Amino acid sequence: MDILRQQATDSVGEGTGFKPFWNETPIKTYLFDAFSILLPAGEQFVISVVESAALRLPQTSTLANDSRRFVAEERAHQRAHRLYNQQLEKQGFEISQYELAIAKDLDTLQSKWSPAAQVALAAAFEHITAVVSQVALRNGGLLSAEPSTQTRLWRWHCQEEVAHQHVTTDLLRALKIPYWQRIGCYLAASTLLTFDVLRHMRGFARLDVARGRVSATQVRRSTARLLLHDGTNLLAMSVGWAGYFLPLKARIPNCQ
Ligand SMILES: [Fe+2]
Ligand SMILES: [Fe+2]
Repeated sequence: MDILRQQATDSVGEGTGFKPFWNETPIKTYLFDAFSILLPAGEQFVISVVESAALRLPQTSTLANDSRRFVAEERAHQRAHRLYNQQLEKQGFEISQYELAIAKDLDTLQSKWSPAAQVALAAAFEHITAVVSQVALRNGGLLSAEPSTQTRLWRWHCQEEVAHQHVTTDLLRALKIPYWQRIGCYLAASTLLTFDVLRHMRGFARLDVARGRVSATQVRRSTARLLLHDGTNLLAMSVGWAGYFLPLKARIPNCQ
């Protein structure tokens, strides 16, 4: 809650913790800011899917309890990232139009996809989020070690993502979602997330270059540095991403 309060009280260019390029370079800052745009709507989708799925479980089961805790954590993340995104909006980025478009797409999807497909998609989003979180948190990872409002928020969020990722995987097992559906939704989620994150990063960079906040050369250099100097991080992310294609391990006991 300290993170939420601090995020709420800091304002752009003011406060002790807020820095425009808080994550070492423009491109690494854009990467996390781009993810943040997706989170309020994305987490709403995951919350509603997990809540509905958990209703099909015995209410005193471990997995039902884990699902309730999962939902409470995601609601806290959602509140924090709404505030985070408001700060981005104050910097001049048109965040709310992106957020509305994502929420609309997910609403449409939820009205058309079966409950099983929605669980598979939610699990896919959660796996990708946990993989990115692990790489963000590792020593020399994608998240700057320099303390700031943003790094504190992301560290808290990433730690909870890694810790609760098993919930949606346990739901896949409990609801007997077939492999083909799990992988089909994973490929769809990976494509959607990659497209949206790159689109938002491009939007940030274009606006910042146009208003002279950063030069095009600086953006290119920081992109090259990300690709060359963060090779281990990118490799770790690829390995974590590919791990989803393995069959799920046997179901943990005491899940129902
Ligand atoms: Fe979250
Ligand atoms: Fe999560």
